[in-house]
Amino acid sequence: MVRFTCGVVLLGLLLTSDLGATSVAGVSMDSFGTTGDGQAVTRFTLDGPGGVRARVITYGATLTELWLPDRQGTLGDVVLGFDSLAEYEAKSPYFGCTTGRVANRIGGARFTLDGVEYPLAANDGANTLHGGRRGLDKQVWQGAPVVHEAGPAVRLTLVSPDGDEGFPGNLDLAVTYILTRDGELRLEYQATTDKATPVNLTNHSYFNLAGAGTVHGHILTLHASRYTEPDANLIPTGRLLPVAGTPLDFTRPASVGGRMGQVSIGGYDHNYVIDRADTGLVLTADLYEPASGRAMEVLTTEPGVQFYSGNFLSGLAGKAGAVYVRHAGLCLETQHYPDAVHRPEFPSIILRPGQTYRQVTVHRFSTR
Ligand code: GLA
Repeated sequence: MVRFTCGVVLLGLLLTSDLGATSVAGVSMDSFGTTGDGQAVTRFTLDGPGGVRARVITYGATLTELWLPDRQGTLGDVVLGFDSLAEYEAKSPYFGCTTGRVANRIGGARFTLDGVEYPLAANDGANTLHGGRRGLDKQVWQGAPVVHEAGPAVRLTLVSPDGDEGFPGNLDLAVTYILTRDGELRLEYQATTDKATPVNLTNHSYFNLAGAGTVHGHILTLHASRYTEPDANLIPTGRLLPVAGTPLDFTRPASVGGRMGQVSIGGYDHNYVIDRADTGLVLTADLYEPASGRAMEVLTTEPGVQFYSGNFLSGLAGKAGAVYVRHAGLCLETQHYPDAVHRPEFPSIILRPGQTYRQVTVHRFSTR
């Protein structure tokens, strides 16, 4: 059932800075405009078999488009986003971006590490969300196409300086998007630091496999029999509770919309504890949209996944005239648990000099 796709080797890196000056098969580049503060943003297009296409911009290392065939072979864009860079800068609810340095929440907007307290920006009530006010999602990364044995790929890199958003250490980051010939979008994360620091990266794509409407009719399976109990501000209490007997139970396939009304916050925004025997790549989620027949499996090396059902969307104008209503897309944010810096009993997110942070998340596409 679980097909492991480890062992992919990076064959080489093409150094390129001039738009269009490269020729990696299946990868093309163009401009996606210039940020308000004058930084040029490049867009990479990865083309796979059957018209499958992923587009990634250097602003926030963001997935902007993902085109997949339906049962009849008709292509549809299955991620939410915007047509212009200005909209990503002005109003994005983290569409498609790489979030960090610490994805999700840090309670009280501060943490103590090795006896030193680090104050952070409080950008979600009294807490820190997705790395602070100007997290990795709002920075312009460097991008280069890479020759990868699995298929067309782009590698995005960024040096987040010591003190960036209050976090210690110069953090060297790399995120590689690979569109494999087997019909997968594979995300590989890597980071090193020169001072101990927390790191928890994720991709914040909002999926809608129908390409329009809400995700209520999507059928979801989550291989997670527990979740981290949240307090009223979505900070974990420390308890891991069973999903059995609650509307959070997706251990067997269930519609996303069917029990939403029974969830106190009117939708899902919960960190699920992935059922796993070891730290390898494991099947975590299966999302299926019956009308189009599109399906997506998610495999990850992470211990958790935030299932967020787009509860805060409320009529946001998006790509190609789309209007994103509440629950127009859902996120499956593979991650370490929220507020791990305050929970020694949770898997640690502390990266120390000499160590390399590595995580892999695979999105495997098919039709049924
Ligand atoms: C995450 C959080 C949500 C929300 C979204 C962005 O999924 O858990 O509460 O903040 O990001 O809107």
